[in-house]
Amino acid sequence: MRHITIFDTTLRDGEQSPGASLNVGEKLVIARQLEKLGVDVIEAGFPISSPGDFEGVKVIADDLKRAVVCGLARARDEDIDAAGRAVQGARRRRIHVFIATSRLHMDVKLRMTPDQVVESAVRGVKRARGYTDDVEFSPEDCSRTDMDFMCRIVEAAIDAGATTINIPDTVGYAVPAEISRRIRYLKDKVPNASKAVLSIHCHNDLGLAVANSLAAMEAGCDQIECTINGLGERAGNASLEEIVMAIWLRREHYQAEASIDTKEIFNTSRLVSDLTGIDVQRNKAIVGENAFSHEAGIHQHGVLTDRRTYEIIRAEDVGWRGRQLVIGKHSGTHAIEQALKLRGYALNRDQLREVTLRVKELADSEKSVEEEDIVALAHSVLTNLTPEEEIVKLLEVSVMTGNEFTPSATIVLTVGEREVIGQGTGVGPVDAAAHALQSVVHQEFGPHLELKEYGLKAITGGTDALAHAQIRFCDAEGNSFRGEAVNSDVILASVHAMVQGANRAVNFQRRASRAVQSQPTQPTQQTQQTQQAAAQPQGHAH
Ligand code: KIV
Ligand code: ZN
Repeated sequence: MRHITIFDTTLRDGEQSPGASLNVGEKLVIARQLEKLGVDVIEAGFPISSPGDFEGVKVIADDLKRAVVCGLARARDEDIDAAGRAVQGARRRRIHVFIATSRLHMDVKLRMTPDQVVESAVRGVKRARGYTDDVEFSPEDCSRTDMDFMCRIVEAAIDAGATTINIPDTVGYAVPAEISRRIRYLKDKVPNASKAVLSIHCHNDLGLAVANSLAAMEAGCDQIECTINGLGERAGNASLEEIVMAIWLRREHYQAEASIDTKEIFNTSRLVSDLTGIDVQRNKAIVGENAFSHEAGIHQHGVLTDRRTYEIIRAEDVGWRGRQLVIGKHSGTHAIEQALKLRGYALNRDQLREVTLRVKELADSEKSVEEEDIVALAHSVLTNLTPEEEIVKLLEVSVMTGNEFTPSATIVLTVGEREVIGQGTGVGPVDAAAHALQSVVHQEFGPHLELKEYGLKAITGGTDALAHAQIRFCDAEGNSFRGEAVNSDVILASVHAMVQGANRAVNFQRRASRAVQSQPTQPTQQTQQTQQAAAQPQGHAH
């Protein structure tokens, strides 16, 4: 059996999904779970893209025990140096260098000639080899690249020291037969092809990412790049769970296997969904809520007689455990820790203490506490701001609403030692509270924040369910600031989420003005770049 290397890029390409943005703590939690799942390589981020991304890659590199930790870099010196520094602490480290090779990208985006592109790729790979002997090279937009030019640049990259060659279908344009043909062509025509591992990276714009990846594997790729729940740019990447289960179930057909613990798939999927806030579609293969339920009578009868009639995979094979009631009023930290560990959350002592406290408060309010509640609380503790970042604190909020008058809100906040009151009206109580908060932020700190996104989800059923609120504010320059919170009261969940988002905006503004104050009169190119990087909103990678 061939061994297929599973390269997970949830924390890099997946984090580029519209709406997915993770802080460093959340990235670390996911990385640890990916290691538990058994992935071989974890692409932890794009270190040059923001200080938050750099920090995320570094923290993961310093922490993981077994998996290779990879940082992405364009074929530019500063990118490669940032990636090299970020992965330096990893037991096993990789740098992934890429440059676009399709005519369109070279002409319009890079404005470089093919010779210049080859030269940059070679220079980039050589520089990356100065940091590690595990270097991956990707000709971006490869599926729209002239086949012979692809071969030329791949050969040069291998000569320069690339140990993995990745073929990206960047825009999800390829179809399976064509991708197989491209891989076979490359293997035939590139004389040193056998010196590198061949890899495939497919996007899902035509819904073909998994099919294309499997076709590439059959044509000779020994590494597949994929993401949990298929997250990724636009329509996403190939979904790890679908690829892994196809290889697992059809190993005789593929004569291949991957070293994934399939029983960790369900937990990993839910963890990523909880932390990114992107729900898994109900009918999603392998991990969707409906993947193992049978509605039609004829199917139910078949499954009850012999489950193999309508089921090709057992729910247990992917670690599906069903809904579990775990915690009562008298359960202690240990039980909560165990429940969270099972779901991939390894919290530190202080975080665990806070979750336990909040679980008990919830249990005290006569609510039965389900596993999903505990996970939601853990998630909210993970996204807490540090005390230094909590510049604005919520003291009180009251709202008035009804069908005969305009909803209004009053909020009392502390800003340092001072109490500040904000008032607002709106189309509903949350809108009114948002206006009250926005007026305080504008008055005290300057920015005009606009509420661009607002989402509310009940964690479990019933009117006493915990509510998870997620918001996104935008300032006048278009910077985004996210906030989220969990509370049994929907108004409180919403206001806490908005206060968190407002704090992120205020912190961002302070960092940006500090960067400007330390600016010399004639900035060098280097300091301009550093300042732009320092002024990136936290948690916004790309
Ligand atoms: O889709 C793509 O081309 C990428 C590269 C950076 C590999 O994500
Ligand atoms: Zn990609």
